[in-house]
Amino acid sequence: MVSAGLENKNLLLIVSGGIAAYKSVFLLRKLVKSGASVQVVGTANSLNFIGKSTWEALSGKTPLFDSFETFDSSKITHITLAQDVDAVIVAPATANIIAKASCGIADDLASTILAAATVPVLFAPAMNTAMFGNPANLENIERLKKRKNVFFAEPESGCLACGTVGKGRMVEPEEIIFKLDEIFYPLKRSGVKWLVTGGATREYLDPVRFVTNGSSGKTGFAVSEAAFKTGGDVTFVGVNAEPSFNPGYSVVKTVTAAETAGTVEKYVKNADIFVMSAAIADYSPEKSGQKIKKGEESLSVEFFRTSDILAESVKWTKPDAVRIGFAAETENLEENARKKLERKNLDFVVANLVSSEFNPFGADTNSVRIVFADRIEEFENITKTQLADIIVEYALKTYEVKHNERKNR
Ligand code: CTP
Repeated sequence: MVSAGLENKNLLLIVSGGIAAYKSVFLLRKLVKSGASVQVVGTANSLNFIGKSTWEALSGKTPLFDSFETFDSSKITHITLAQDVDAVIVAPATANIIAKASCGIADDLASTILAAATVPVLFAPAMNTAMFGNPANLENIERLKKRKNVFFAEPESGCLACGTVGKGRMVEPEEIIFKLDEIFYPLKRSGVKWLVTGGATREYLDPVRFVTNGSSGKTGFAVSEAAFKTGGDVTFVGVNAEPSFNPGYSVVKTVTAAETAGTVEKYVKNADIFVMSAAIADYSPEKSGQKIKKGEESLSVEFFRTSDILAESVKWTKPDAVRIGFAAETENLEENARKKLERKNLDFVVANLVSSEFNPFGADTNSVRIVFADRIEEFENITKTQLADIIVEYALKTYEVKHNERKNR
């Protein structure tokens, strides 16, 4: 997962001495990929696991280990690092650094920064099960949790490096990023109401034959999953598509464009965010009541325009609702996407180019442009899950802005 919410954030990554430091290497990569600027500070013990040059190469900044290393001679290192950043992440957080932070011990650069930090601090503990369960450690964690600016990415249960099985394994980088997003955007994500559509309509020529397209619904499932993970109240309209697993959110099934229009009209009234990823037929044929028999050399069928569900939805949505469209184009990608943005009065359009060499329908990775009224963001070769996370972040941010503007009016 990369996160759209971390762009331009200044982060401090404190690495303490545990084998899980290798996961923090991946965490650093993902943070940087998300557009964050990251300064690494390590404890002396951390150097037994990952060397300076790894942090330096991935962050583009000299990692710091010593309280008296000069970072900027006009500034006091530990105060600047603790207060001039948007957040501090401690990953892995060993029992030792947790104990020091809990008691206010400041005997090296990492712990001194933690003693001076006023910004949000996120701990991702990693240690042996017995150490994690030790009452001293649990008390330290409890004490830290009472502080307003302290957050925890709770360790998982599983097979640990020491060979034991139990609680103490550091969560994956994705989970840490997810927590950071929650810290930065504490808007009541839980309870935000989402309506997401996905799949492809079927327009019947007769009782057995239909016209459709290649949209698989994968993006719609991925967005629903990602929105659900933020605590959203999600309804997914599966247009001839349903998740292969039993999701925690509700699924409403539809078949045709007309049926999908009726379903969207019914559910979108309550939605805070509407994501229209289903590929809807623009034309529907006149349907024969009986199976069409073969006869003449050629067959003509008249097609009629369907309604543009996304464009129409503006009449049914709440005034501060966020509306997101998709555009798969074979030419003039940005221009066509921008026209759709304006014509359908959308907050943003997720656009991708379809060519004879590449068809995003059904594919697992994709390169997209996200077109806003004032800018275009480009994402190359990302998976549908990554795309879904990005869409959800942008949608929530847009919702927050619109919602607050309305409240302040
Ligand atoms: N859409 C819709 N109802 C339709 C057609 C499209 O709600 N009858 C939605 C799609 O779900 C998508 C967006 O509108 O989010 C753009 O769809 P697309 O097929 O790319 O564009 P159209 O508006 O149909 O225009 P055109 O086919 O001329 O490119």
